[in-house]
Amino acid sequence: MTRTDDDKRRAAEAAVVEIQDGMIVGLGTGSTATHAVAAIGARVRAGLRIDAVATSDATATLAVAHGITVRDFADIARLDLAIDGVDEIDDRFFAIKGAGGAMLREKLVAVAADRMIAIADGSKRVARIGAAPVPVEILPFARASILAALGRLGRVTVRQGDAGPYRTDQGNLVVDGHFAGIADPGALAATLDAIPGVLGHGLFLREINAAYIGSDGVVTRLERSPDCD
Ligand code: 5RP
Repeated sequence: MTRTDDDKRRAAEAAVVEIQDGMIVGLGTGSTATHAVAAIGARVRAGLRIDAVATSDATATLAVAHGITVRDFADIARLDLAIDGVDEIDDRFFAIKGAGGAMLREKLVAVAADRMIAIADGSKRVARIGAAPVPVEILPFARASILAALGRLGRVTVRQGDAGPYRTDQGNLVVDGHFAGIADPGALAATLDAIPGVLGHGLFLREINAAYIGSDGVVTRLERSPDCD
């Protein structure tokens, strides 16, 4: 295991300690979330009783393999806790997510959760988000017109998979954007939200309540202050 992966694991294992009996827990997607799923699985095998919802098909499969009960999010109006990775997070608790393409489901689960915890290795903690591209999930039906609208905001590319354009679990396309407006993430999010056919994006500006960051073997817990809006 690399040092970075060890830091991810440590952050995930520290965050999972917050889970209590009876909770409904949102499971994120990606390599750090995978460590969380493994740690939750170990707690379930030790007697913890929880239900979970998964933010991707891959996470659902993994969770079931770890003995975690996974429920259909379509039946769940609110969750106690969501635990998920990030691509970047800054001191304002602004984050970019979606390198793994699951940001639409991740956002829906995060918004339904009473508390969302971001877990990451130290490389994800930045002074200001914006170096990472912002992933945007779009409806394939309107690909050209949405690309034209997004292209007016910055440099955009349609994400590619192994055999053509990458498709999300919902069958949609992902456009990765380096947007000029990232200096004002709130305004950029509002602009993206207003484009018809944009189904979601990886700007998480209000959802994250706490972050567990692993760096050089030490995990730091950061709590969002109430005036951090
Ligand atoms: C998936 C995500 C991931 O949580 C994010 O990309 C971080 O991934 P990793 O833990 O592998 O670094 O947003 O859509």
